[in-house]
Amino acid sequence: MKRYLPDEKATMTLAAEVYAALPDALAGWTLLMSGELGVGKSTFARAFIRAAGHEGIVPSPTYTLVEPYSLPSGNIYHVDLYRVADEEELRYLGWSELDDGFRLVEWPDRARSLGDEADLALELRYEGDARSATLTGLSERGTALIQKIN
Ligand SMILES: Nc1ncnc2c1ncn2[C@@H]1O[C@H](COP(=O)(O)OP(=O)(O)O)[C@@H](O)[C@H]1O
Ligand SMILES: [Mg+2]
Repeated sequence: MKRYLPDEKATMTLAAEVYAALPDALAGWTLLMSGELGVGKSTFARAFIRAAGHEGIVPSPTYTLVEPYSLPSGNIYHVDLYRVADEEELRYLGWSELDDGFRLVEWPDRARSLGDEADLALELRYEGDARSATLTGLSERGTALIQKIN
């Protein structure tokens, strides 16, 4: 699924739509967000976490690597792998313990194996001052979710 995102609000709307299309139980889902610096990965993550009911700030996980949110629909883990150099480091950040929640991952290319267990891939691109998004299903349930949004 491809969508043109003319402004920040359109990016936030797409995030809210993805959240709304998810089942009640978020545990075990993984969404990989890729695209260049400043393209809107954190904007998407912030809107997704707010759609789930979080009202406070959504700090960047660049230094903490993981920012956890405990919300009525379950846990959401906002993960940023920008500073991660290899797959080994995933173990140190306790990746396997994040499977009780929804994992929203920035810079997933830092750990290629994540693609095998992910459900959705969001690729953001620059279109002049605007952006475009390609949302791909990586699992059966991920593909079904995209059909629901369309
Ligand atoms: N669809 C869009 N069109 C134009 N600007 C956008 C769009 N989505 C987000 N932005 C802007 O681009 C910047 C994205 O920053 P950020 O979300 O931190 O990017 P990233 O996490 O990918 O580095 C923000 O200034 C935001 O306002
Ligand atoms: Mg970011």
